[in-house]
Amino acid sequence: MANKDLNKAKAAKKDEFYTRLEDIELELKHYRPHFKGKTVLCNCDDPRCSNFFRYFTLNFEVLGLKKVIATCYKNQDVDLFSHHECERAVYQIYEGDKNHNRKVDEDEIEVKYLEGDGDFRSKECVALLEEADIVVTNPPFSLFRDFIALLIKHNKKFLVLGNKNAITYSEIFPLFKEDKIWVGVMPMTREIYFDVPQEYIDEGLRMKKDRTIVKQGDKYMARSPSIWFTNLEHDKRHEELPLFKKYTPQEYPKYDNYNAIEVSKTCDIPCDYDGVMGVPITFMDKYNPHQFEIVGNEDTLAIPKGRGYVNGKRLYGRIFIKRRSAL
Ligand SMILES: C[S@@+](CC[C@H](N)C(=O)[O-])C[C@H]1O[C@@H](n2cnc3c(N)ncnc32)[C@H](O)[C@@H]1O
Repeated sequence: MANKDLNKAKAAKKDEFYTRLEDIELELKHYRPHFKGKTVLCNCDDPRCSNFFRYFTLNFEVLGLKKVIATCYKNQDVDLFSHHECERAVYQIYEGDKNHNRKVDEDEIEVKYLEGDGDFRSKECVALLEEADIVVTNPPFSLFRDFIALLIKHNKKFLVLGNKNAITYSEIFPLFKEDKIWVGVMPMTREIYFDVPQEYIDEGLRMKKDRTIVKQGDKYMARSPSIWFTNLEHDKRHEELPLFKKYTPQEYPKYDNYNAIEVSKTCDIPCDYDGVMGVPITFMDKYNPHQFEIVGNEDTLAIPKGRGYVNGKRLYGRIFIKRRSAL
């Protein structure tokens, strides 16, 4: 492919969003006990520049890890932004501070070549996945469905970043309903900034309406509506959401096309309504499976016209829930 076409294809996919160490630290601090004695795999990470690999090597002893493995995709050069110009890739393994100098030395990191391109679905990467206990990474947005499906198929624990909208994907939402996946500790409303290749920045700045590219200090970064997806337990998901409001038919109208009431803000969920309620997707941030049951969403409930309507007005996407005490 000519260079120009290659750049176009890359920009269209927009998978090269690189996670900052501070965002990794902020989330990972809530899961420490899960990592004791475990092998961690970062399988969409060039180990020589991934902040995920960096986090786990720097915190190896504090977390009591057994092993950290990171594989990269189509890259053999030390370069934060992968150009996918190489059909082979490398992976690295770290098994701790062998010389006890409290530093991660280069000779303590084993560099190995993969036979193929490092695709997380390839046979050799799946073999590394089999060896791992927990997968922690930010996978390519365009392959998020495949990525989660693979982790579920191999029964792995995981903590991964993904687009907020992925909650509603037809392959992902049922996993929330079955309590096989939940959102992490970081509030869904918090903005995360990522390092991105210069071509994303140039394109974002060129398109005046694009509010993705923002200046952070003296550097341009990309804003992306990302959240953590996990199946590792954390305290927040067992906190009870305090419910203050009382139901009235005036304040909580029924949908025109579905037998449920519309609750436009999670904090306004009434404490005394026994039926089905439609709430915004950000409800997932407060979802405690002992307090609420997820009934479905527009797709799984096959709601006519694909959205809830109130007095003829089409609303944003909703999740339909019930209070557990009301069951
Ligand atoms: C959103 S970026 C995140 C990179 C890194 N995990 C981080 O958080 O900084 C996704 C990465 O996955 C890589 N990638 C794309 N397709 C892949 C595949 N099929 N298998 C493994 N990695 C892939 C991309 O090259 C990119 O570096």
